[in-house]
Amino acid sequence: MTESNAVLETLVERLAPSGDDPVSERTWQFSERMAAIYQQQMKHFDEDAEARQWHRLYSTEHMPPPDDTANMAEVAAQMAFYFPTHVFKFQKAAIQQLLEWQSRQGQINPYPLGAPSITLVDIGAGVGTASLAVIDLLAAWTDVVGEFGYKQLGISVHPIVVEPDTNKQGPRGQMLNSLARLVDRHTISIEPVTEVFAPYPEPECIEQILRAIPGGSLVMCCISNFLSSVPGDGEQALAPIGAQAASHATRTTEHSAAMSANQAAIIAEKAVRCAEASRQLLTDPAV
Ligand SMILES: C[S@@+](CC[C@H](N)C(=O)[O-])C[C@H]1O[C@@H](n2cnc3c(N)ncnc32)[C@H](O)[C@@H]1O
Repeated sequence: MTESNAVLETLVERLAPSGDDPVSERTWQFSERMAAIYQQQMKHFDEDAEARQWHRLYSTEHMPPPDDTANMAEVAAQMAFYFPTHVFKFQKAAIQQLLEWQSRQGQINPYPLGAPSITLVDIGAGVGTASLAVIDLLAAWTDVVGEFGYKQLGISVHPIVVEPDTNKQGPRGQMLNSLARLVDRHTISIEPVTEVFAPYPEPECIEQILRAIPGGSLVMCCISNFLSSVPGDGEQALAPIGAQAASHATRTTEHSAAMSANQAAIIAEKAVRCAEASRQLLTDPAV
């Protein structure tokens, strides 16, 4: 096995261990970082009189729709029901893209996607699920290449989150801050988040996104469970920000992605609402 393959295999094994039985399907699991962040956020909700009402209001048969929220109890319920599956679904789409990119490189590039500076444009961000999932994946990548003896290189990540629902801003900020503390600042530094509250794709929103993107950064549009609610086909939906994934988005299934030299779009659609469907999606041994 080449070293490059060994690195990739270690990465996949860390995110989705194959278990003792080689023929059984892989099960995706939270990294320790992501588990800590999720648990800490659910604890914050339980310490808040309004947010803790989610236990009383919702059950597995009666879930809140994963959209706009009226109060913090709905945000907490959405976190409880959707966050775990949405993180895995997005990481799975992102890692496929990372592996495809790396397999074209010949040798390991210690920078994931070859980029020392990455801007994440998370549209329909909610509590920041896609941004958290990608940063956690980048951290797993740097951990693994470090273990294989490659010099740790600093990557800066600048999240631009587009989300009109202001109830989600607090939990999203807390989780991104927690993640910033848990990743090694010398290898990944999370820059101050740009918040865009104008709804996508209104001109004001597009203008704010484009203004916040720094020159020379790899732009990754991370769109998780949102694109299908934008009118028009995927191509029209992504055209305002010039995302290269436009042609792929038109045939978006569970996940779809495209990448060019300086821009990437990773899209995870088809909301996974029921436990059975989630399990099927998460154990699909596609990687
Ligand atoms: C299904 S949730 C997905 C949240 C998160 N990306 C995830 O995968 O868990 C869709 C999100 O899009 C937000 N949203 C609705 N209309 C929007 C718009 N026009 N522009 C940006 N976000 C919007 C909703 O408030 C909601 O948080």
